[in-house]
Amino acid sequence: MSLITPSKEVTDSLDIGRVRAQFPSLSQMVKGQPAIFLDGPGGTQVPQRVIEAIADYLKRNNANSGGAYATSRHTDGMIADARAAMAEFLACDPDEIVFGPNMTTLTYAVSRSIGRELKAGDEIVLTQLDHDANISPWAALAERGVTIRMVDIHEEDCTLDMEDFAGKITPRTRWVAVGMASNAVGTINNVREVVRLAHQAGAMVYLDAVHFAPHQAIDVRALDCDFLACSTYKFFGPHMGVLYGKREHLQRLQPYKVRANTNAVPNRWEWGTLNHECIAGITACVEYLADLGRHEKSSVTSRREALAAAFAAIHQHERELMEAMIRGLLTIPGLKLYGITDPKRFDQRCPTMAIRIAGHTPLQLATELGERGIFTWDGNYYALNLTERLDVEKDGGFLRIGLVHYNTMQEVERLLGALADIVGERRASRPSR
Ligand SMILES: Cc1ncc(COP(=O)(O)O)c(C=O)c1O
Repeated sequence: MSLITPSKEVTDSLDIGRVRAQFPSLSQMVKGQPAIFLDGPGGTQVPQRVIEAIADYLKRNNANSGGAYATSRHTDGMIADARAAMAEFLACDPDEIVFGPNMTTLTYAVSRSIGRELKAGDEIVLTQLDHDANISPWAALAERGVTIRMVDIHEEDCTLDMEDFAGKITPRTRWVAVGMASNAVGTINNVREVVRLAHQAGAMVYLDAVHFAPHQAIDVRALDCDFLACSTYKFFGPHMGVLYGKREHLQRLQPYKVRANTNAVPNRWEWGTLNHECIAGITACVEYLADLGRHEKSSVTSRREALAAAFAAIHQHERELMEAMIRGLLTIPGLKLYGITDPKRFDQRCPTMAIRIAGHTPLQLATELGERGIFTWDGNYYALNLTERLDVEKDGGFLRIGLVHYNTMQEVERLLGALADIVGERRASRPSR
């Protein structure tokens, strides 16, 4: 029996066949069944053009930057292209883009730097909903006498308590770090309101866009955030981190750096030799998305417009999958879905579902699904404050099912069928009293 009732309001326009044909890994089989990748929040698959760009760089242009010969000049050009691509992705200027190994490392770079100017009595506001990469680097500044204030959640739907947020921001607040979306329960936070509250108090805002970036377009100017970090491996690119900072902040703050790094922005924030082959892959991943947008809307004239068209199509497709997934999940006996469950509020969540099923640990569920070729994740995914706050950390956290645009309705149906089977099998094998 199908657990899916099709939604009437949303009509999917994404050319899913064309999308999937570009991802070689999606055609893998597990025990004779097509693999289903529902592990996007931990890292997405990459299209062929990203694989080729990385290999091509290593074949033709592998060199250090800044040399007086062809491959080194090509490397410099390639890095400039990637910076321009990410600037269009985030709607900023290329010199406001900093590359680094991952979001966590970049965040520590910024926290060490702001630690140089914060003093005892200054305050930093963080949230219980955030990934630890947007908590620990800031919380470490407590060593300097900085006060850390944690904003709580509404337990019933895992949304931020915005009243608590407003109360935690005081005239002593210097820094506010918050995620755009939760990598555990999918909640999309009202970061515009956070920016407004923080700026009103004279504080700066650091946004973690890692989980949001594969799902919706980002415009840092419209958000007016001071910094924003994301990771390209979460949006169909290579394992790299990207930091946006307002130019004035990148120029004023003092990073710890080697003397050979110039003081120019963004060079003063990029230490040592960067991962050139992955940077080549970043341009390709932005191009992949732009190409998707051009295919969906042929009238676009710029890459930024193409990216907006891509995310409009992605959003619509993901929304349809998410509605079907959540509707199906809620019919499974003993299943608890954490986060927003009311379809009228689905604009406030990503298609990332955290569940627990009575009588099964998240690890058991992930393992049994994995045996069937369905890849999900179990545990806390570093959203440690949240699993502790909801008291599920000691019991294995959640099972996370993450949808991205290359997933299909058939995959949703297979996941739901597999979960229903697993629950049914366990019930059938229980001794009757
Ligand atoms: C919401 C969120 N923030 C931060 C991170 C850390 O990113 P990175 O692995 O690039 O350090 C992750 C990784 O899963 C994440 O999901």
